[in-house]
Amino acid sequence: MCGIVGFTGRRDAAPILLDGLSKLEYRGYDSAGVAVGGQSGIQMVKTSGVIKNLKEKTHDGMDLPGHSGIGHTRWATHGAPTDLNAHPHMSNNEKFAIVHNGIIENYAVLREELKEKGFIFKSETDTEVIVHLLDFYYTGDFKTTVMKTVARLEGSYALGVICADFPGHLFAVREAGPLILGVGVDEHYFASDVTALISHTKNVIYLEDGQFAQLTPDGISLYDSTGAAIEAPVTRVVWDIEAAEKGGYEHFMLKEIMEQPSALKATIEPRIKQGEIVLDEFSLSEEDLQNINKIIITACGSAYYAGCQGKYAIEELCRIPVEIDLASELRYRNPLVDDKTLLIVVSQSGETADTIAAMKECKDRGAKILAIVNVVGSTISKLADHVIYTWAGPEIAVATTKGYSTQVAVLDLFAVYLAKRLGRIDDARYQELMDCIRQFPALVQRAIDLNPNLMQLAEQYHNKENVFFIGRYNDYAACLEGSLKLKEISYIHSEAYAAGELKHGTIALIEEGRLVIALCCYERLFDKMMSNIKEVKARGACVLGVALEGNREIFKEADDVIAVPRTEPIFNALAEIIPLQLFSYYVAKENGCDIDKPKNLAKSVTVE
Ligand code: AGP
Repeated sequence: MCGIVGFTGRRDAAPILLDGLSKLEYRGYDSAGVAVGGQSGIQMVKTSGVIKNLKEKTHDGMDLPGHSGIGHTRWATHGAPTDLNAHPHMSNNEKFAIVHNGIIENYAVLREELKEKGFIFKSETDTEVIVHLLDFYYTGDFKTTVMKTVARLEGSYALGVICADFPGHLFAVREAGPLILGVGVDEHYFASDVTALISHTKNVIYLEDGQFAQLTPDGISLYDSTGAAIEAPVTRVVWDIEAAEKGGYEHFMLKEIMEQPSALKATIEPRIKQGEIVLDEFSLSEEDLQNINKIIITACGSAYYAGCQGKYAIEELCRIPVEIDLASELRYRNPLVDDKTLLIVVSQSGETADTIAAMKECKDRGAKILAIVNVVGSTISKLADHVIYTWAGPEIAVATTKGYSTQVAVLDLFAVYLAKRLGRIDDARYQELMDCIRQFPALVQRAIDLNPNLMQLAEQYHNKENVFFIGRYNDYAACLEGSLKLKEISYIHSEAYAAGELKHGTIALIEEGRLVIALCCYERLFDKMMSNIKEVKARGACVLGVALEGNREIFKEADDVIAVPRTEPIFNALAEIIPLQLFSYYVAKENGCDIDKPKNLAKSVTVE
């Protein structure tokens, strides 16, 4: 995933572009660049490395005078992160410059065609074909040139284009990649994400797939894929710039861990009214609902692990089968899906390529699609039949925390809502479960406060290798997410394992000093977990037990204990993941890792 920005107005563009790129750096940070239209044509500076390098190279943009321009921060897909492969890309005659987020699937064919026409390629990227197409189709009309160029592209793209002959004009084009327009006063913007716009304006237009926008200081003109003028609503963004800043925390991840109570409040409160769960966004009719004979949950990474938790909750409360499938698998397994299938798609960014592909595959086969997503106007939110937003606010850290916990909360809400609609639970149970969910913000706040020893535990265990997370039932779902958190920010290899599976081979890996984190919150199986703990301790493991507060038994076997506040057992994962997030954070800090921007990772994987 990459980040693109554009500005046109009466102020110098370069400092504004650089600031916008800084806000998008979580989307990709292996190279960056800006191009500004000035009196002497387009000036461009780009560099491998982080935005800071670009700021230094351009003296904070002072070296690039001009009132309109485009910028890009990259997560490399085609071609290594080098100065030449960084965006923007410029045409040979230096008349056009472009920035691109997405993938041009037919770039190889276009590249050969353009080379035969004499165009000289400087980079290894797929993107560069676009700027040479602009040059090829240029007849003096900017809009026509952009439309002819885009008509040749296959794949996904959020594009920003400037032309030396049209100072002050920007073109923005969206096809399966987020692109938002900012409406200012005598200045206008585009960006991949609202976080790059919010310090200038809260008035935004979410471009739809196939739409073009022409931005000048005086206004924005919108066109559909035929070139016909169209209108689009201006939306007011509800959160402030502080939401996208660190707010005094050392890392975005820690800030977002601490924000979880308020994020959950925003997720839950609008959906419990007058003693009822109200999911207006889920408008499946009674007939359609009765017609559903299969639920599939699909997602990637942590969103998938939230889905695993959702499977336990829906099956337990609704007594209907729920399949859970990695989107990267579902999309290729010729899925058994039809109009009686409800597909629940979970995604924080709403831009994950595999998840989008799996969603389209199932939609083509007739499935009803419910999306649980955080980013408003994202591709997944637009493709779905029904959308339940998690309202977590912007999540900047690559490692998701509030994104995950609000996904779990929505899935728990949905499970109770569906169980009631299907008549699987009576009113008393419905109210009891609803009260539990209403308490989630306080539950998570207590989970944050309950373990002052987490930093000390991190110091104790930060240099462990090959850690095991073990658990049973929905503790196992929490193990999956806890293990990923540790891996992706501290680079310590860990595995999440169903505790009952250990003896089927993996226990061979347990040896003196191996750290085993045993999640024992599902108390119906506590004795089984205690047996597993004894098994691994007998082979030299050290055990960090995770158990409900007040449980004294765990102290008989575990070397150290993390306490988790009590709630309805089916909702345990929401509470027990909190100390695991913090433990991973402190371990990564102890190991000096780049917590908000872990190596090789991007906030949203918009490529296969
Ligand atoms: C989680 O910490 C990772 N950043 C990653 O696994 C992420 O959950 C996954 O890529 C899915 O992203 P999405 O929720 O935006 O679709």
